Amino acid sequence: MNIFKQLSLLLRFVRFKRFLGSLFFSYQRDRWERQSPSSQTSEPLQEPGKLLQAEPTTTGGRFYFEQAELEISFLSADLIRVDWKPGIPPIPYGIARQDWSEVETNLQETAEGWVLSSTALKVVIADNGKLKLHNANGQIIREERPPQRQGEAWTHRAQLREEEHIYGLGERAASLNLRRPKTEAQHIETYRLWHYDAGGMYSSGTDPLYLCIPVYLGLHKQGSYLVFYENTHSGNVTFKDVAEVSFEGGALRYYLSVGQPTQLLERYTELTGRPPLPPRWAFGYHQSRWGYETEEAVRETANGFQHHDLPLSAIHLDIDCKDNFRSFTIDPDRFPKLREFNQELAAKGVRLITIVNPGVKADRNSDLFEEGRAQEVFCTYPNGKLVLAPVWPGMCAFPDFTNPLARHWWSRQYEYLLDLGVTGFWHDMNEPGVFTLRGDATLPRPTRHSMEGRGGTHVEAHNVYGLQQARAGYEALCEYQPEKRPFIVSRSGWAGLQRYAWTWTGDVETSWQGLRQTVPTILGMSLSGIPYTGPDIGGFKGNPSDELYLRWFQLSSFLTFCRTHSANNVKPRTPWSYGGTVLNHVRECLRLRYRLIPYFYTLAWEANRTGHPLIRPLFWCDPDDQRLWGVEDAFCLGDALLVCPVLEEGVGSRKVILPQGGWYNFWDDALITGANEITVDAPLERIPLLVKAGSILPMEEGEQLTLHLYPPVQGSGEGCLYSDAGDGYGEWRCDRFRMDKGENGIELTWEQEGNYPFPYTSVQVHLHGIELKQAWMDGKEVPCQGNVVECDRSLWDSSQIIAIRFSTHQVV
Ligand code: GLC
Repeated sequence: MNIFKQLSLLLRFVRFKRFLGSLFFSYQRDRWERQSPSSQTSEPLQEPGKLLQAEPTTTGGRFYFEQAELEISFLSADLIRVDWKPGIPPIPYGIARQDWSEVETNLQETAEGWVLSSTALKVVIADNGKLKLHNANGQIIREERPPQRQGEAWTHRAQLREEEHIYGLGERAASLNLRRPKTEAQHIETYRLWHYDAGGMYSSGTDPLYLCIPVYLGLHKQGSYLVFYENTHSGNVTFKDVAEVSFEGGALRYYLSVGQPTQLLERYTELTGRPPLPPRWAFGYHQSRWGYETEEAVRETANGFQHHDLPLSAIHLDIDCKDNFRSFTIDPDRFPKLREFNQELAAKGVRLITIVNPGVKADRNSDLFEEGRAQEVFCTYPNGKLVLAPVWPGMCAFPDFTNPLARHWWSRQYEYLLDLGVTGFWHDMNEPGVFTLRGDATLPRPTRHSMEGRGGTHVEAHNVYGLQQARAGYEALCEYQPEKRPFIVSRSGWAGLQRYAWTWTGDVETSWQGLRQTVPTILGMSLSGIPYTGPDIGGFKGNPSDELYLRWFQLSSFLTFCRTHSANNVKPRTPWSYGGTVLNHVRECLRLRYRLIPYFYTLAWEANRTGHPLIRPLFWCDPDDQRLWGVEDAFCLGDALLVCPVLEEGVGSRKVILPQGGWYNFWDDALITGANEITVDAPLERIPLLVKAGSILPMEEGEQLTLHLYPPVQGSGEGCLYSDAGDGYGEWRCDRFRMDKGENGIELTWEQEGNYPFPYTSVQVHLHGIELKQAWMDGKEVPCQGNVVECDRSLWDSSQIIAIRFSTHQVV
């Protein structure tokens, strides 16, 4: 028998075994699910009934209804926690902050009902359990109906305004405004709160996806609010005339905040955690492919980048590097010298990231499995038998990450790969996803979980499974490499994932629609507190045309996570696999990204301090401008850049709806003011890009920093540059710049804070949009080369404050 025949027989055998495994699992799952109580209860619907009594508490107020109890606590003046009881309280997996300082509140009985207020918000509690939320100006921001309880399940409804836009719910293949009219294509009627492995491909309209979060932001003419339901149970959400959220169990606990979107994200991330500062290299380019089967294939790829003069920061190894797809293994034949290989790559500035799937092959010869079994850290059926389900290695057992012991045991496994020089980890299949022939491709609903010792089923644990795996991974990396910042990419997660990991948008379809979907999906994640994500450039399964690949690359080079990845049955996808023209355009695009890394990194530092996402919808800077509420074909990167990707085939220009203020065209410095909408050129080699007037954009080229000044239309503008060693937790510095526009020119002041030494050997200042005639630094005239001036090193070595004056007139 020739080798091909042998291989194909083997493949068929593997598939057959997987098929049998799926049959077995589906049978077991259905049997258990039939025996366990269903979510469809015949119990009567209950409302709270009449309000009987109200009393103030140290944090707010408690309200006793005939059939429910309501507690409202002010965590800050503009953030409340609302608890409707009865119901088992949640385990605070999503919550990062428990200690809030006391807020002055006031409880009063009025004709409208009881009024509980702080300086920033007021809640009116009606006799029947309706709640009205007012902002500091007295405007009604949200009106809630009395919740309904049926058995263990809750339904909660809030009135929506006609013009109201809704954003968030984690990762969605939906429009940016989740309340899209029914008449439109890809309309999603009900958003599920139940992580789902799209299994190789999804497109617009697929719901749910891998990472659902019960948080949404509402924006209407009176203002905006954010609501986060701290409930991990399976649930559903619809947005029609009312927003309706239902959960199969748990208490109805939610958090509400009113304010501008910027403030809402500050509060939400104060509650669920701010993203730690990632290592700086993570903002470089990542190359990945399911199908790098040998060390040699990876070496060739890394060399290809070097050969074609393309920067590269990381290569991701998919399941091919594993020994029979088993977690925490490396195939010794195909990757025989991983430690040396890692050193070789490190010398080229390339890090290796390896995949880790949660399923542990159920095999008596596997130490990992036997150890896990002995320690009782795997998920079980109610009768104590292990839940086994097929994933890549065959039948697998699943660590119960809601068990602290299991997390600890799992954490210890990373050491082996870290010792081999692996830099980061890619958690996949952690919804968790399993292979089934029919039905829900995850663990059975009655699966038992520890839930930190309190006990629970998969209905409650499913949505935090990946989050707790990320926690275990993050803690492992902190422990074994305390001098380095952890880098983990996790496909699934929940509220708070930003504390532990990055994510990506999964197996998106290779199509123009898939490309278009990327923007609203990522903006929705930003507004759900998840700042670090990006798509598989070119889509997962398929071969993008030259044009689609290039446009996808251009878009992604402005996203936080810039990675090409593809399935194992598609053509190799590297910039040079597309020929010279595409290669040149991709190179330019990558160079620009690398020059912008100081800007990305500064934004990441700001995200860590404020919770503001790096990628923002256009309405972020002006929520009162209704024209911007539904824009989903462009986005802002920080305050300075407006990125307008090309999302249609065969076009050479596109329309852009402009937020107010002045904008410079990045490519020719033309200043645009007072326009509502413009058409910008978009030749194949170029992504339309605008810079906000008043921005100071730090860009680097090796050891040289260039400050790009885009003068304000009038008044002043600011910029900032954060620097440190790029990893670890040592000294840092922040250079703050301010530019003031006067009659004769511009004055730039530069102030420094922090002890990290200035990391550049030379600094240029490049003035855009106006012609530069003369310049002075700290009072001394300096020569101009065109619109660029070179700064003297002694300036930043000696002074604390540097003043640079540019004149647009010749001064005699
Ligand atoms: C899943 C992942 C994909 C990965 C594949 C094989 O489909 O989403 O990124 O390549 O599994 O591990």
